[in-house]
Amino acid sequence: MSRLSDIVSSIEESRTMAISSLTKRLKAEGKNVLSFSAGEPDFNTPGFIKEAAVKAIHNNFTTYTANEGYPELIKVIVKKFKDENDLDFKPENILVSNGVKHSLYNVLMAVCNPDDEVIFQSPYWVSYPEMVKLVQAKSVIIEAGVEKEYKISPEDLERAITPKTKVFIFNTPSNPTGAVYSKEEIIAFAEVLRDKKILVVSDEIYEKIIFDGEKHFAIGAVDHLKDKTITINGVSKAYAMTGWRIGYAGGPKDIIRLARNLQSHSTSNASSISQAASYAALSQHSKEIDMMVEEFKQRRNFIVAELNKIRGIKCPLPKGAFYVFYDVSAYYGKHVNGFEIKDSTSFCNYLLMEQNVGLVPGIAFGNDNCVRMSYACSQVHIEEGLERINNALKKFH
Ligand SMILES: Cc1ncc(COP(=O)(O)O)c(C=O)c1O
Repeated sequence: MSRLSDIVSSIEESRTMAISSLTKRLKAEGKNVLSFSAGEPDFNTPGFIKEAAVKAIHNNFTTYTANEGYPELIKVIVKKFKDENDLDFKPENILVSNGVKHSLYNVLMAVCNPDDEVIFQSPYWVSYPEMVKLVQAKSVIIEAGVEKEYKISPEDLERAITPKTKVFIFNTPSNPTGAVYSKEEIIAFAEVLRDKKILVVSDEIYEKIIFDGEKHFAIGAVDHLKDKTITINGVSKAYAMTGWRIGYAGGPKDIIRLARNLQSHSTSNASSISQAASYAALSQHSKEIDMMVEEFKQRRNFIVAELNKIRGIKCPLPKGAFYVFYDVSAYYGKHVNGFEIKDSTSFCNYLLMEQNVGLVPGIAFGNDNCVRMSYACSQVHIEEGLERINNALKKFH
């Protein structure tokens, strides 16, 4: 008998976190590493949010709150869902957790049984397959490569459905690709799901980081999916609050009740101070968010234009989030100085060794032809990084 859990042994360490740790270590060793692996805005949490947290501390809002989140925050989340997403929830439909990751895990735990099938697309966010393993369900992955601009079609979804399908995890705007599904595309997915007993877990964490007049549409707002959708969102990316760890879920009462129960025995409430900060974030519209999104858009335009000038790189224009995900497979099979590029991992290793540039291999997101580069960093950082990538790849031409 092993002294370790079989289930936990079956999951891998988050590769994005492993790359971040490696680049941090190289920096600490004195290497001039330029990392593009960050999954977090390079802006500070807006001042009014920080002040709300300081006030909470001084007012001794430092004890346990209700397990599911304190009532005023829940009210503001109900209002946010109504005003921004056309979702009708009551307080009992809401659970506040320690980040979107925690919300997703609680909800998947609340609905999955062994051998249930969970559908999602590739490229996917790194934790979906590992979470599906943790809840002992089975991932059913629909491939969508660069030629499809990383989007699946309603027919793809239809083909993936079996009598065992329990959940469809949907993520728009997407990490890692930045792809955004339009309202029409989302309604077409909803049509496929009509009259089926499939739940939708919709990860909308990048909702506010969206460009070119694209509008975010919450799949749970489609009438016939209202009782089958759990909408998950949080403050990490939109408000530059990754370290505060607040995410929330809105969904059918029976599912939220189970997720609340689970949370009550694992972590209890999310930090009271972070909840107070999130209340401030969600209660008012902040110009700082608009400025941040505008800045991301400028960087995106620059980076995509420059990347596509490099021979062999195919980079579609992402419509949201703060990542570019580009195809580098034209370099596979090429050699330089005894080094062979075989896949996305060796491509990233080469750039790290040759020019101290840290990218994330696409394999971490299910697509080995691509790499992910975050542009949540300064323009100077981006310019220097692109120059280094260019220098490293020139050696193959
Ligand atoms: C698509 C997606 N979902 C969930 C998360 C986790 O968010 P949080 O930091 O709020 O747990 C991330 C973070 O990178 C993400 O990109």
